[in-house]
Amino acid sequence: MYLSVMKTDKLLLRQIISEDKENIYKGLSHPDVIKFYGVNFHSLEATEEQMIWYRELEENETGIWWAICSTDAQTFYGAGGFNNLNKQHKKAEIGFWLLPEFWGKGIMQEAFPLICNYGFETLGLNRIEGFVDSENSSCKKAIEKLNFKLEGTMRECEIKDGKFLSVDIYSKLKND
Ligand SMILES: CC(C)(COP(=O)(O)OP(=O)(O)OC[C@H]1O[C@@H](n2cnc3c(N)ncnc32)[C@H](O)[C@@H]1OP(=O)(O)O)[C@@H](O)C(=O)NCCC(=O)NCCS
Repeated sequence: MYLSVMKTDKLLLRQIISEDKENIYKGLSHPDVIKFYGVNFHSLEATEEQMIWYRELEENETGIWWAICSTDAQTFYGAGGFNNLNKQHKKAEIGFWLLPEFWGKGIMQEAFPLICNYGFETLGLNRIEGFVDSENSSCKKAIEKLNFKLEGTMRECEIKDGKFLSVDIYSKLKND
């Protein structure tokens, strides 16, 4: 699967490389990032699992994730992309996270259209879906501003840290 570098005036989206491991660990061990997020890691070594996950998505053609960076590629802001790509049904799940120091700067607003456009135009998707913890108000605000439609809530569908959590289902269709 070909992974292109995508750019806007503010952002560069590029392939995730092994040198990103420190930043991936920094993000996916940060309490504010992992609060509503499905994975977290307790050591740099353990983060290798995530690096393998990113690699295998492309090898197995089941998804593709990008590093979200400054246009000069010097600063790592976070990561975003697709997994659970289902070619038969032309759909995939979208995911996204940023290091907290880069929150509230509209980076998700700027990066999502690039990622979604790649999904619809290059991956041939018809449907992009996002599963958001019902308590994750920042993400819900941001994804609704991006015209994803709230389809419903899977109530108490998971247990995290011993507590039930509910998940909101958002989607965007190619012809929306
Ligand atoms: C969800 C997330 C990607 C939003 O990215 P972002 O680029 O900050 O998004 P926006 O700039 O559009 O801000 C969205 C909302 O986040 C909230 N927000 C912004 N800055 C914030 C901050 N420093 N602290 C807490 N919330 C903040 C605001 O409510 C904002 O909405 P508003 O500007 O309409 O009031 C980011 O908060 C994040 O990485 N969260 C952890 C990972 C995660 O939960 N990902 C789940 C899937 S989205």
